[in-house]
Amino acid sequence: MADYTLAVSDVEIARYRLMAQHALAGEQRQLALAGIAAGAVVADVGCGPAAMSVELARLVGPDGRVTGVERADEALAAARQVVAESGLANVELRQAPAEATGLPQGGADVVMMRHVLAHNGGAEQDIVDHLATLVRPGGAVYLVDVDLTGIRMIDGDPDLADLTDRYARFHAARGNDPMVGLRLGKLLAAAGLDVVDFTGTYNLLTAAPGLRPPVWAARAAMLAEGAVTQDDLDRWAAAFERMDAAEVRPTMFAPLFIGIGRRAAQES
Ligand SMILES: C[S@@+](CC[C@H](N)C(=O)[O-])C[C@H]1O[C@@H](n2cnc3c(N)ncnc32)[C@H](O)[C@@H]1O
Repeated sequence: MADYTLAVSDVEIARYRLMAQHALAGEQRQLALAGIAAGAVVADVGCGPAAMSVELARLVGPDGRVTGVERADEALAAARQVVAESGLANVELRQAPAEATGLPQGGADVVMMRHVLAHNGGAEQDIVDHLATLVRPGGAVYLVDVDLTGIRMIDGDPDLADLTDRYARFHAARGNDPMVGLRLGKLLAAAGLDVVDFTGTYNLLTAAPGLRPPVWAARAAMLAEGAVTQDDLDRWAAAFERMDAAEVRPTMFAPLFIGIGRRAAQES
């Protein structure tokens, strides 16, 4: 069974860029609270195509730096492309697993992890424990994750109604926790961090024609593991095309959780 299930296409990279823009607009308070500011040293672990890493690099400016950590070859190749296109000199990439990044202990002001824990069932605490070792005293671990079971949609195509549900069940069958967002505060506290912020919001997303949700990037993995049939995929592909042509855009409501844990300024 493959470790990770989302294929990286241009459509996927566009989706990640959109998510990064949403994060910048919607997380200003949390980004400031965590210490994302000029000069900060940041790690973005499980960075995927690095769409957020480059935005963080812009925020920390030339005196700060960002290291994107990613395990998968395909995502890392996409990340290299996104970083090169950004023209930024203060982002570097490193290939490593999230639970053993090889980054220096206590070397970061902020360690961010977005949408990674939902793919790492059973290893969530080991990963967050490792992230906690990477921040300096007073530094912060910044986690973002979802509750896949809480996604809602209006004006969607009826043929897509079962898609999100099938995706949540697919993750659960792999031992992943589709509701891991609800546990971010507990994971940070168990890693010995002071939970300074833990919030949840419903993100409202009106998809532009051509954009696809994460489940669509997982279709090959779902098919390979027998979680869906080719008939399902054909039916959903046709529904996405109808949706792209429809005058009324569907709106997706996706619950998103952000947890920030701070390492004590002076370890006792
Ligand atoms: C859903 S993507 C999120 C990408 C990015 N954080 C963002 O929000 O734009 C998850 C990424 O984490 C990577 N990933 C998942 N588990 C990992 C692990 N244990 N170690 C390193 N990378 C991991 C995947 O390869 C994938 O690129």
